[in-house]
Amino acid sequence: VKAIRVDRPGDPEQLELVDVPIPDVGDGELLIEVEYAGVMYADVAQRRDTYLAPHSFPWYPGREVAGVVERVGPGVDDVEQGDRVVAMVLTGGGYAEYVIATTHEQTFPTGIRASAADVLKLPAHVSGSQALVYVTNFRFAHVMLHAHAAVPSGASVLVHGASGGFGSCLTQVARANDNLVLALCRSAEEAAYCVSLGADHTFDTTTGDYVEWVLDVTRGEGVECSFNGVGGPTLDRDPSAVRRRGEIHAYGYVAGKSAFHPFDVRKSLALKTFAADDFLATSDFQRATEAMYEAFERGPLMDVTALFDLADAARAHRSIEDGRAIGKIALTP
Ligand SMILES: NC(=O)c1ccc[n+]([C@@H]2O[C@H](COP(=O)([O-])OP(=O)(O)OC[C@H]3O[C@@H](n4cnc5c(N)ncnc54)[C@H](OP(=O)(O)O)[C@@H]3O)[C@@H](O)[C@H]2O)c1
Repeated sequence: VKAIRVDRPGDPEQLELVDVPIPDVGDGELLIEVEYAGVMYADVAQRRDTYLAPHSFPWYPGREVAGVVERVGPGVDDVEQGDRVVAMVLTGGGYAEYVIATTHEQTFPTGIRASAADVLKLPAHVSGSQALVYVTNFRFAHVMLHAHAAVPSGASVLVHGASGGFGSCLTQVARANDNLVLALCRSAEEAAYCVSLGADHTFDTTTGDYVEWVLDVTRGEGVECSFNGVGGPTLDRDPSAVRRRGEIHAYGYVAGKSAFHPFDVRKSLALKTFAADDFLATSDFQRATEAMYEAFERGPLMDVTALFDLADAARAHRSIEDGRAIGKIALTP
């Protein structure tokens, strides 16, 4: 069967289509025939080997899939052959025609023990491509906004990279919490996408200084909470965009890691970091899964915005690196 393998860190051409044997299903494992494999920024960073701690190669990318259960090993109770499912496969290998999802407990880099896959059955009215948008980003965004940041309903929030995979889900989660959502993006098309998801105000950061805009929208006060997965120079600008006793939640650095000088702005602020692994084995994550099913019932549902053949994985990665991707993009084997 076909799969994508990366033998050494580097540019998108390292994503090589290879033939691998169809995987055996062991105890506590199941085999999923992949219909859609999600592509996310973490995959790009891991391909370059700039994601968190260095990892080993060869590496089989792909942490989230939607598809059909092909085979079930002993000890897997909740899912049967033929079930339509969406799954987080944190051990990787989702860029493939088939992937093994193991339900064995694993220890994550943060020391948290949790199941390496959670395989979720899909309601009949939800397509695999729609569910793929939610399985990782919606649930992590829910946990970050509700459990980690505990943002009260009605508060104003700033979302950096709001048209991206994670940012678009965060926008939806904040909207559902009745927050005033100020969305940052980098084109008119991305701004329109953010508005379609419920952003109250959008700003194209290529046209000027977002801090001035935030102060303008919030009558000089700043937002109660900034969610920053962009990093780079923006982390050091955020204290000026957040109101006194506000919070900055730093959860990524697509624009690079940079220094943070908290005393340049004379304000009381909280800077919190977020690592999703810390929440995997918690009731907060269970609550986020329930919220995902509620969103499925409520609709309208987000869907992937672009599909690429499995063999075109390099083009998919390049679209993220070039800033052309909007929302969630996926591969189809
Ligand atoms: N901490 C955690 O546990 C956790 C969990 C999940 C995700 N994350 C983080 O969430 C972030 C987003 O991930 P994703 O998969 O959603 O990626 P994505 O779909 O590629 O979204 C990235 C967003 O950032 C914007 N962006 C990229 N470079 C930028 C720059 N130089 N200046 C301003 N904006 C820029 C992109 O805008 P354009 O479309 O205009 O390029 C896009 O909106 C990443 O930092 C990822 O590591 C963290």
